Amino acid sequence: MNVLYTAVVTAGSGRNGPVRSDDGKLDLQLAAPAGLGGNGEGTNPEQLFAAAYAACFGSAAAGVARRENLDTGGGAITASVSLGRTEAGEYRLAVHLEGSFPHLSSGEGMRLMQAAHAGCPYSNATRGNVDVTLSVKQPEGAEQTGLFSPWTLGDLELKNRLVMPPLTRNRAPGLVANRLMAEYYAQRASAGLIISEGTQISELGQGYQDTPGIYTEAQRDGWRIVTDAVHAAGGRIFAQLWHVGRVSHSYYHGQTPVGPSAIPVPGMAYTPEGMVPYETPRALSLEEIGEVVEQFRHAAVLARDAGFDGVEVHAANGYLIDQFLRTGSNVRTDRYGGSVENRLRLLREVTEAVVAEWPEGRVGVRLSPAGGVNGASDDDPVATFSAAAQLLNSFPLACLHLVEGPVGPARSDGARVSATEMIRPLFRRTIISTGGYNRQSAIATVEKGTADLIGFGRFFIANPDLPARFRSDAPLNEPHPETFYGGGEKGYTDYPTLP
Ligand SMILES: Cc1cc2nc3c(=O)[nH]c(=O)nc-3n(C[C@H](O)[C@H](O)[C@H](O)COP(=O)(O)O)c2cc1C
Repeated sequence: MNVLYTAVVTAGSGRNGPVRSDDGKLDLQLAAPAGLGGNGEGTNPEQLFAAAYAACFGSAAAGVARRENLDTGGGAITASVSLGRTEAGEYRLAVHLEGSFPHLSSGEGMRLMQAAHAGCPYSNATRGNVDVTLSVKQPEGAEQTGLFSPWTLGDLELKNRLVMPPLTRNRAPGLVANRLMAEYYAQRASAGLIISEGTQISELGQGYQDTPGIYTEAQRDGWRIVTDAVHAAGGRIFAQLWHVGRVSHSYYHGQTPVGPSAIPVPGMAYTPEGMVPYETPRALSLEEIGEVVEQFRHAAVLARDAGFDGVEVHAANGYLIDQFLRTGSNVRTDRYGGSVENRLRLLREVTEAVVAEWPEGRVGVRLSPAGGVNGASDDDPVATFSAAAQLLNSFPLACLHLVEGPVGPARSDGARVSATEMIRPLFRRTIISTGGYNRQSAIATVEKGTADLIGFGRFFIANPDLPARFRSDAPLNEPHPETFYGGGEKGYTDYPTLP
């Protein structure tokens, strides 16, 4: 084809008026060729056609973005039109429409373009001698992927797939959440979801200095300051409900720690008075197990009253529920020990109790199939945690949060199965995966669909604006481990944000 003229116009304001969705999510800018913005002087028919097409297509795209609640982040659509003549002497118009949407993956962008094309009045005119092609351009410097796209968790809309996972920071003297904590969490409200630091459900559930609780009214009111601050900053926050079991120490409450069986954690416990051997726990009686379940229920109620968006049951990292799940810490001979079904019983009962206090889709559970932390060991973690995931699948949960890591024995190729890959096919709702992710591996994991949301622990400690930094691939602040556990503002609320 012999090309006679070409014209390029970016949809938007100017001659055809602004193209903006009602909620402002799509705001297309016009970069008009000379003479096109005002009185139309100096234009040729291709320029006029390109402008009309781009504006019309842009308004169709704005409509689609609004209907589908897509945040295009001020996207742009460029129309290139060329007039050519075929060897047979026929005139043909080639129209190429290219979208660029900072907040959408290329797949989502293409879907928007196709829907806009179908809804654009000009699409009827493209059947004869007009050829239309569509494409999506990835904005420079910011590879756009699903990691930055919204996600629906239960009935909650999350603005991106980045999760700030639970991070104990030991800054709650008196065991009550406070204003400094509110500031810290609010600084990180650009995460799609925040999960609070482990929050003990009873005195005996505490295992470390100055960790906040959620079993008294004062603690509920302390957390209210935090949830209000996070919500005012546009964030979402779940409370992590925690009982450390045998990882506790009498230093904190003057009582012997409790667990499924009288087996101590191997190694030494940290107390403010130095490292001391873990105490041998007292095995909980059947009656006391019922009380623990009620404590989880009570904490779930207080968390709801404190304004959290949901709760996460901490069944990971070698704490009480994980201790019941695993053969290394549970040698009971009653209905809470022995078979997998029996070892899962406490998890089942706690989940039942907590789910009963919240609307559907507001409760998550955290598991760590790979184990290792706090002496967590199991004869057959693949069997135990596959059964746990299947059990949890039967509850109306929001999500399952996995601590990522290799599970079980090596396969014939020498590799061990990853916790997230193992559990994904067994659980049909949202999967959060946390542990060792960086920007690239998180993008790849979400693109592959192995997890829906990715947690970043140490990165969120050091980078309050982590989503913005990852979005533009900006440099990251280094975390300072010496200020992780305890202290004040230093290493807590003073990490800088991007200018
Ligand atoms: C300082 C610190 C405190 C943590 N506290 C908790 C906690 O309270 N509850 C929990 O389930 N995990 C806790 N974790 C584990 C994190 O949630 C996360 O799984 C871990 O940091 C691995 O993720 P990362 O590689 O992105 O840092 C903690 C980790 C760190 C570094």
